[in-house]
Amino acid sequence: MKRRDFVKLLGAGGTALTLPASLAGASGIGTGKPTPMHTTLQSTGGGVGMDRQVQIYMAGRLAGQKPDYPVSVDDLEKKAAEMMKPEAYGYVAGGAGAERTMQYNRNAFTRYRILPRMLRDVASRDLSVNLFGQKLPYPVLLAPIGVQSIIHPEAEEATAKAAASLGVPMVCSTVSSKPMELIGGIKKDVPNWFQLYWPKNTELAVSLVERAEKAGFGAIVVTLDTYLLAWRERDIQQAYLPFLYGDGLANYFTDPVFQSILGSDPAENPMDAIQLFAGIGTNASVTWDDLKILRESTNLPIVLKGILHPEDARLAMQYNMDGIIVSNHGGRQVDGSVASLDMLPEVVKVVDGAIPVLFDSGIRRGADAFIALALGADAVLIGRPYAYGLATNGEQGVRDVLHNFIADFDLTMGLAGVKKSTEIRRDYLSG
Ligand SMILES: Cc1cc2nc3c(=O)[nH]c(=O)nc-3n(C[C@H](O)[C@H](O)[C@H](O)COP(=O)(O)O)c2cc1C
Repeated sequence: MKRRDFVKLLGAGGTALTLPASLAGASGIGTGKPTPMHTTLQSTGGGVGMDRQVQIYMAGRLAGQKPDYPVSVDDLEKKAAEMMKPEAYGYVAGGAGAERTMQYNRNAFTRYRILPRMLRDVASRDLSVNLFGQKLPYPVLLAPIGVQSIIHPEAEEATAKAAASLGVPMVCSTVSSKPMELIGGIKKDVPNWFQLYWPKNTELAVSLVERAEKAGFGAIVVTLDTYLLAWRERDIQQAYLPFLYGDGLANYFTDPVFQSILGSDPAENPMDAIQLFAGIGTNASVTWDDLKILRESTNLPIVLKGILHPEDARLAMQYNMDGIIVSNHGGRQVDGSVASLDMLPEVVKVVDGAIPVLFDSGIRRGADAFIALALGADAVLIGRPYAYGLATNGEQGVRDVLHNFIADFDLTMGLAGVKKSTEIRRDYLSG
């Protein structure tokens, strides 16, 4: 078959497929350059999963190009390990203590089996989900990952651009390497969200939240599980904490309240500024009642991240929180703790549809997202996988990871016999 026949064939039944005749040259696969389809997601009529596959297979057929990065996230991690500074890789890949919680997170998914249904006309599928009045194209967000300058020089800016090109919101960390004002502005239709680490100084907390609202973020994610930094053996072995080098402190150094506490310009006194951060960056004395301060200081939806116990989910609702994220911080905080997925059904039961329940910790591929949604999550957050994409190929690396993840999820959903991501239920799991 000739090249143009391929293009014709793939266009049949679809809408506006723009695989150019010069596809080989235009494809980023094997070149590290963006492809038109990365950014447009134009349809073959088979959905985002088919589009992505076709793009890759066609580049192989027409130009002998193969993806120049490992498609499997575990292999991508190995590549990232080869490319990153050992201490930076240890910081990203590592977890608390013996890293048992990280294993539990991954193992938890193997306890569930998807049970597909047949003959259900899933030719056109809807992956979108509504959260806090925002329509997300997929039930997927990028989890907050701080201090991305140790992963790639373009850091959160590259991540935000990649996420925006696919319409996926990114949750920007308090400890981002680039100021939140820059990241808030990089979006498509859906705003990014801002993640807050609650500092000791309340005025600083309020200032960060007010800045986030002004910068165009669509929600505040308050991370509850990191009021102390866990015992992380890899980092301790390397005597490495990135913040002590000034990495990941952009939001503090640019904050008027932080600057006034410091009493000088952080650029002129970086060591003093770093020490101030070390002193006030986290706050172990915060309690549920403190959430009232936050509630009063913003009109944005507030989402609590790090909920595992169903009773804490109930308290979140009692304190008028808008949503929760079931998460154990990817096993970075409590070694030997329960897998995040294992608590999801109980939390969902207590919440009973009153507020959105999001999920992270251990999500690696489409089937993981499907299982989490079947257990009642409204959306999932991808963490380490995109960090490895960033490490290996910057913005394009994040885009490839995210695009492949969405494609895999779409195909898994279709092949399970589900038309809409909001219709993924427990019935689609066996037992
Ligand atoms: C290197 C790294 C940095 C992180 N930084 C933050 C952060 O700044 N704020 C936050 O709430 N969570 C942070 N997390 C946790 C993620 O948001 C998410 O909960 C976790 O990565 C999920 O686990 P998984 O990546 O193994 O799926 C970080 C995770 C990693 C790996």
